Amino acid sequence: MSITFNYASAGLREGELEKARPVIEAAYNTLKNKTGAGSEMLGWMDLCDTYDKEEFERIKAAARKIKDQSEVLVAIGIGGSYLGARAGLEFSKGPFYNQLPNKDGVEVYFAGNNISSDYISYLFDIIGDRDFSVNVISKSGTTTEPAVAFRLFRARLEEKYGTDGARERIYVTTDANKGAMLGLAKEMGYERFVVPDATGGRFSCLTAVGLLPMAAGGMDIDEVYRGLTDATRRYENDDMMTNDTTLYAAMRYIMMTKGKCVEILADYNPSLTMFGEWYKQLMAESEGKEFKGVFPTAAHFSTDLHSIGQFIQDGARLFFETVLWVDQANAEVTLPDDPANTDGLNFASGKSLQYMNEKAMNGTLLAHVDGGVPNLIIKVDKLSDYTFGELVYFFWKALGISGYALGVNPFDQPGVEAYKNNMFALLGKPGYEAARDDLEARLAKV
Ligand code: PA5
Repeated sequence: MSITFNYASAGLREGELEKARPVIEAAYNTLKNKTGAGSEMLGWMDLCDTYDKEEFERIKAAARKIKDQSEVLVAIGIGGSYLGARAGLEFSKGPFYNQLPNKDGVEVYFAGNNISSDYISYLFDIIGDRDFSVNVISKSGTTTEPAVAFRLFRARLEEKYGTDGARERIYVTTDANKGAMLGLAKEMGYERFVVPDATGGRFSCLTAVGLLPMAAGGMDIDEVYRGLTDATRRYENDDMMTNDTTLYAAMRYIMMTKGKCVEILADYNPSLTMFGEWYKQLMAESEGKEFKGVFPTAAHFSTDLHSIGQFIQDGARLFFETVLWVDQANAEVTLPDDPANTDGLNFASGKSLQYMNEKAMNGTLLAHVDGGVPNLIIKVDKLSDYTFGELVYFFWKALGISGYALGVNPFDQPGVEAYKNNMFALLGKPGYEAARDDLEARLAKV
């Protein structure tokens, strides 16, 4: 088993887990029996069996074509339409995946996840004169950020290759039946992939949404699916005490009932930085409703021990920590001996950095527990395409249970619309005129 969960440092009092058991078991059954709010959005639960095989093969073929034609893929999307793919590439290939020599994929850059002029122009500079392709990803097909980026990159492609050449380099991942992106793709004859109806944004990264950028960047998506499949089977276990997704959900629930309303996902490996971003979206969009929820944040250790570490050790006791630890390094580096020992580090000569990192993790864990911070530990044996598929499912399933335990619909995201409506009104989008005057008047006072 390549993922393990441990709550020995959660500081549980006797009887707390038993007390939570009825709520957690009810939430588990609600999810399993698909009887809760949002149950039409549970396509992720059996994705490993139901995902369209023909589409899966077409994704691999498209990734090969991108590699043949281009040096760079620009993946355009926001939220659930980009975080998983980026998390996967960094998880599997490391933070420098685009610069690695002998990589087995193209460089993959992400756009459409902001509206920054600087960001786009830096990206234009990075691509330069090189051949590139574009994968625009939007379930709704109407999200402003990706629509803006797509307009810009499509224009550049058409300028460079002509309309017909651009058609050969544009891939559209969107709803099967509706949305502006679908209309455009049909009209222009772009190759299309589908965001299945029952897999909402943050549950979609193991459909074409994430699989095409991951495959183009060199990930083996068969391996990702092998991990997804094994995790799906493993966490079908109805026994709360031996199902780690249920136990993790139970711990999150118990922490929340004790007023620990912030969860810090703490990693010790920069390859997991984007995984932390993916986790933040998954948890926040799913649980942050009806004035409830555990606020998710991520910390990257040991880096952040030199910044927010002070607060975690001694500040207000609002949070618990979930350590995401990787047991084995993919490449081992050892600290060399220095006969002069001017840095005083010879006590660690010959030790691997993985060993030293583990000591940092254990030392931090004990210090934080001593400081009154409950700690949970999720261990992954190593970072790979396989464990990415596994871990994504682990978090999906745990979140589904903990969301239902909290009493919210974990599968909608009504709050995301509020800023969009204000932005449309302020930009002068037709249909939003009434709101605009009111917003302008309020802004005048800011
Ligand atoms: O989880 C979600 O539903 C959101 O984060 C969406 O993924 C995000 O808003 C992008 O939406 P779309 O794919 O429709 O452009």
